[in-house]
Amino acid sequence: MRFQDKVAIVTGASRGIGRAIALELGRQGASVVVNYRKNQQAAEEVVQAIQETGGKATLFQADVGDFAQAEGLVKFAVEHFGDLHILVNNAGITRDGLIMTMKETDWDDVIRTNLKSTFNCSRAAVRHMMRRRYGRIINITSVAGQMGNAGQTNYSASKAGQIGFTKALAREVAARNVTVNAVAAGYIETDIWASVPEDARQAVLGMIPLKRKGQPEEIAKAVAYLASDDAAYVTGHVLTVDGGMAMF
Ligand SMILES: NC(=O)c1ccc[n+]([C@@H]2O[C@H](COP(=O)([O-])OP(=O)(O)OC[C@H]3O[C@@H](n4cnc5c(N)ncnc54)[C@H](O)[C@@H]3O)[C@@H](O)[C@H]2O)c1
Repeated sequence: MRFQDKVAIVTGASRGIGRAIALELGRQGASVVVNYRKNQQAAEEVVQAIQETGGKATLFQADVGDFAQAEGLVKFAVEHFGDLHILVNNAGITRDGLIMTMKETDWDDVIRTNLKSTFNCSRAAVRHMMRRRYGRIINITSVAGQMGNAGQTNYSASKAGQIGFTKALAREVAARNVTVNAVAAGYIETDIWASVPEDARQAVLGMIPLKRKGQPEEIAKAVAYLASDDAAYVTGHVLTVDGGMAMF
């Protein structure tokens, strides 16, 4: 129960990696705000699952790409649970395509959802965390932001942007005992892969030394480490969890 008395927000937590993170933090004692955009029923099930393990959780609808709604999410967490210690910027989308055919909206939507949301939520959370001299911000990025991926200029740019953001913010807020880290996920089995053709999936699988996809729970464990006091001296770090796909 290492997150007893800790309040956490997980964005995009109704399914996939966000869901696994919310469940893991809740299982270890955190009071969790399960943010979702559209699927209220799935978010309710996550809240219920946390409550069934004895944890505290509630849900909050917000499009975190929207500045005011992201502010509203952080305000809600502080008002509802009385504090905020952990922010996990997980919400993300893909709109893949080669650059010659990529629509302007595909670029804008991905940057807004993946990168601007990270700014939106962090800006609101940092205000509170700096004041109370404690905070853990964890951004879910991707190996695509480290290696680049053909057909994903928008996504790779957003994920590389999150890494730069992580390091810059880590330097800004370190003196107030707020750490900012990122987890760079590899090929993790979630719905985000639904639109990727089978041959492309096999090609990615072929690049993984551990020869398998990762599970959302394996990202959640890494997030839990970075959110814990065990990682008190870790900041500005990108923890790659990818079966060895990207080695630098
Ligand atoms: N699955 C992978 O292989 C993989 C690899 C690297 C990085 N990631 C990153 O992990 C994160 C989670 O992805 P996932 O694989 O669980 O995908 P997913 O599609 O299953 O989940 C993404 C979640 O984000 C939510 N979301 C999207 N836009 C939102 C918005 N504007 N406001 C609030 N919520 C919003 C969705 O509703 C969904 O619940 C993403 O940032 C993704 O880029 C995933």
